[in-house]
Amino acid sequence: MNILVTGCAGFIGSNFVYYYLRKHSERKIIGLDNLTYAGNIDNLSGLTEEERKRFTFVKGDICDPELVERIFNEQDIDGVINFAAESHVDRSIHDPQIFLKTNVLGTQVLLDAAKKHWRSGNDWKCIDVTKDESEKSRSNSDNLPSRKPAEFLQISTDEVYGALGPTGYFTEKMPLDPHSPYSASKASADLIVKAYYDTYGLPVNITRCSNNYGPYQFPEKLIPLMINNALNHKPLPVYGDGRQIRDWLYVEDHCRAIDLVFEDGKSGEIYNIGGHNERENIYIVERIIEILRKKTGDSEINESLIKHVTDRLGHDKRYGIDPTKITQELGWKPKFMFDEGIEITIDWYLSNKEWMQSVISGEYLDFYNKNYKI
Ligand code: NAD
Ligand code: DAU
Repeated sequence: MNILVTGCAGFIGSNFVYYYLRKHSERKIIGLDNLTYAGNIDNLSGLTEEERKRFTFVKGDICDPELVERIFNEQDIDGVINFAAESHVDRSIHDPQIFLKTNVLGTQVLLDAAKKHWRSGNDWKCIDVTKDESEKSRSNSDNLPSRKPAEFLQISTDEVYGALGPTGYFTEKMPLDPHSPYSASKASADLIVKAYYDTYGLPVNITRCSNNYGPYQFPEKLIPLMINNALNHKPLPVYGDGRQIRDWLYVEDHCRAIDLVFEDGKSGEIYNIGGHNERENIYIVERIIEILRKKTGDSEINESLIKHVTDRLGHDKRYGIDPTKITQELGWKPKFMFDEGIEITIDWYLSNKEWMQSVISGEYLDFYNKNYKI
């Protein structure tokens, strides 16, 4: 089975490549990433020799139809998991256009290639999954289907639902109400994916996850930014009063959910992913300070570093996922609650200061040319 994983050098994409190659010992990934500022192929340096044999990296743009067509022709793609995106809300507020290009048009280019290559007459490509030994040991092997349809999985976000008041949760049935150019572009992509299912019958799923955290997250996002600034005694910029709420999920839990939806999700369905770990931003920052001070013994890491700064335009007040559907239909539950996940995450950043240094200094931008060009 050959899976095209786009955005494989970003935060969640790279975590997923590790997860997937380790979980499915007979499957291959073709990783497509054009290595924007957020893409760092060094994130995948930890693959073992055996895993590298099952991973092919293509540097390129999902918006390039000829390249995508070539990949489908040459690699016999059985599934697409589309992580590639411009992902940072603040950047979308300053410069929306690239968000529409990558997130909307890029998704449509991938959908078109999948439609062209997977459809023959009225039938869609199916994959023999009985050959995969790791699949047999997945659960009760006798009950596993021997064939599954090729699958297009769109990695979307809870932000497409807009913002919540103090109560209630996002369910899959809620109307789309995105507020930022980023979330509007992700909502648009979701609608295009749905259109390919409704119009052509392309087998698709959409997942909508809450805020992720963990290893390899680019330090423009709240948690790695605060860890890095605190370690360097730099101000910790909290937008507005810091009372906005996000629902935090450790990235490995997200990867496990994606794998489950990709395997067993019902065609055409949307699955919300989140583990009821809602926290105010100010709590997150204070917790990072407390843990870092304890782990480093550095008394200069303290509350005086917190700086309340001008609020984000159109800042969504609260996100909170209702994960009932994925739990009931696919048996998914998070393994990591926030207090455990944040400790693991901080330990990772403390043990990988060179990674952070290379990202902050921009050295990582050369890593592909120096080490990876194939
Ligand atoms: P990221 O910014 O860390 O990574 C995005 C990756 O996509 C980068 O490697 C980048 O180089 C690549 N990319 C960008 N434009 C491309 C293009 N035109 N062609 C090929 N590759 C391109 O993002 P992330 O946080 O890993 O998010 C991955 C996906 O998950 C995104 O679709 C995002 O919307 C979604 N998501 C993220 C979160 C989160 O908390 N980070 C939560 C829910 C959903
Ligand atoms: O909810 C899922 C989304 O989570 C994903 O779709 C996005 O790709 C991902 O970037 C993330 O979006 P957020 O805007 O929620 O994440 P960010 O880390 O940028 O901000 C988290 C919260 O922290 C948000 O309320 C803004 C606030 N914040 C952020 C930064 C970078 C600050 O207060 N200060 C900061 O410096």
